[in-house]
Amino acid sequence: MPMKPSHSNGGTDPKNVVEIRDLVFRYGQDIPVLDIQSLDIKKGEKVFIYGPSGSGKTTLLGLLAGVLAAKEGSIRLLGKDLVKMTAHERDEFRGNHMGYIFQMFNLIPYLSVLDNITLSCELNRTRKGRIPNGELKKSATSIAQELGIAEYLDKTITQLSVGQQQRVAVARAILGSPEIIIADEPTSALDYDHREKFLKLLFLECRKTQATVLFVSHDRQLEPLFDRCISLKEINRA
Ligand SMILES: Nc1ncnc2c1ncn2[C@@H]1O[C@H](COP(=O)(O)OP(=O)(O)O)[C@@H](O)[C@H]1O
Ligand SMILES: [Mg+2]
Repeated sequence: MPMKPSHSNGGTDPKNVVEIRDLVFRYGQDIPVLDIQSLDIKKGEKVFIYGPSGSGKTTLLGLLAGVLAAKEGSIRLLGKDLVKMTAHERDEFRGNHMGYIFQMFNLIPYLSVLDNITLSCELNRTRKGRIPNGELKKSATSIAQELGIAEYLDKTITQLSVGQQQRVAVARAILGSPEIIIADEPTSALDYDHREKFLKLLFLECRKTQATVLFVSHDRQLEPLFDRCISLKEINRA
């Protein structure tokens, strides 16, 4: 009997950081928003997923981050199936292995820039554990230097420009070297030059840790900067 093609197997390639199989997701009792037979993403890949507004991009990222729970199919990240985890296990997995950059950055306005950057590591043992003991502030400062925001570390977020806030969001997502960086249209409020600059900074940091980047947007202008582009409409049968 011939071997099954690899896209239809159960998904076991250790090179894959993300492996989705037969994922169906619906909000409540509604018709499915997502129905994805197969999606594989390899370690270190920078992937751009595009689709119009309402096509399910944020839903897909919510499932990958474990904020939303799928009941059908499998979502294997770093070899672990999120569908089989409890909400608490998903929270812990996200904190340990993922950096999430939100559309509006979701920085905490009343905290300093430094505290915003270190927060995700303060909350997660594994991530903090990748930084030598007692050197969290030093690591955050060194990333802030590379991103050109070291002089703002003691300021609050509200004292920064949007461009500076972006860099804080990048610093927060990469500190503690999470294996997966997820970004939900974080650049849509910016002009092309700033968006390109933002991505180049993000990629530069991710290259150092071989992190995998998943970036969703409705705007295909940034596509050439990525290793691979995927149309959500093409992989989504819903
Ligand atoms: N919390 C929710 N409850 C019910 N329906 C939702 C919810 N969030 C999103 N949807 C619906 O799911 C679809 C996909 O939304 P979304 O993932 O936000 O798309 P995108 O990020 O591509 O704009 C839309 O039809 C939207 O109305
Ligand atoms: Mg969205």
